[in-house]
Amino acid sequence: MNFSILGTGMYVPDNIVTNDDMSKIVDTSDEWIRQRVGVQRRHICTTETTVELGYQAALRALENSGTKPEELDLILAATVSGDNVSPSLSCMIQRKLGATCTAYDINAACSAFLYLLETAAGYFARGKVKKVLVVGAERLSKLVDWKDRGTCVIFADGAGAAVLGKGSGYLDSTFTTRGGDTVIKIPAYAGESPFSRLEPERPFIHMEGQETFKYAVNAICSDINKLLEQNGLTPDEIKYIVPHQANKRIIDLACIRLKMPISKFYVNIQEYGNTSSASIPIALDEINRKGLLKCGDLIILTAFGAGLSNAACLIRW
Ligand code: UT7
Repeated sequence: MNFSILGTGMYVPDNIVTNDDMSKIVDTSDEWIRQRVGVQRRHICTTETTVELGYQAALRALENSGTKPEELDLILAATVSGDNVSPSLSCMIQRKLGATCTAYDINAACSAFLYLLETAAGYFARGKVKKVLVVGAERLSKLVDWKDRGTCVIFADGAGAAVLGKGSGYLDSTFTTRGGDTVIKIPAYAGESPFSRLEPERPFIHMEGQETFKYAVNAICSDINKLLEQNGLTPDEIKYIVPHQANKRIIDLACIRLKMPISKFYVNIQEYGNTSSASIPIALDEINRKGLLKCGDLIILTAFGAGLSNAACLIRW
């Protein structure tokens, strides 16, 4: 026994920041951002916290699945941009929802939503849970260096969530880690210990764009091929690929290499930018609410990011 997705939800802040708005902050242009990244606008927090984003997405997923907070047996959440180091995002969402179940966070940056699903699958397999809430929420606007045009035009804020229930929808998955901090890194607050002799680092997103780009294209292609092969499937049998929304050119290139039509890949980076752990559940919620999937359709979720890490899973809707 594993799980099926019972409902989805998403939430983004009201404040929309266009590429033209960005060009007033750093030396960039709407043309460059559209062409090189594919983002047209993003949603950036003004007063919202990460907890609030996650809570709102969770409420919508609960409503969409017809689940009450007291029915939840587990809440798993992911963020690299939490309001607090502790309590965790999941604990704060539990409290706001009025739920009483166990709650904890998993850190796997942009791949994290897939790690939440895999962890939940273990609980379902052991018959420990009937309903699980998974949430990815990010306020990356607090982690970007607003003077670095290479990153601040890409990352944004938002949250996505799903409610999982007993079922047989989670078919297969693959996870890879290539540990290291030379390609993407978000240093933590250095502290003020009078004894520390470590050089403090600025607690912003540092990213080697081109290295990440290459890693991402390879990861998407190898993970999708692996899942297709392991399950004896052809690309035609997959209704949608839901990739992490990091750069439209990454998705385009993966499409070409995989010889799959771009129409199979769900793309919404133009509206939200890169929201890390929230990007896949936001896309999933849009697909769900637009009615693009019917019962039995196969989809592949595929993610990559800091760690470095990449992951993919095959789901029957
Ligand atoms: O979610 C985590 C995973 N993250 C990713 O997957 C991100 C992957 N990487 C990327 O999406 C791309 O590498 C970036 C969008 C970050 C950068 O695009 P690029 O095509 O790799 O650009 P680049 O870093 O090679 O820079 C090309 C030029 C440089 O100018 P010069 O040195 O050629 O004169 C940059 O300074 O573009 C310049 N540039 C910009 N120009 C206008 C970099 N950022 C900007 C900007 N506006 N915002």
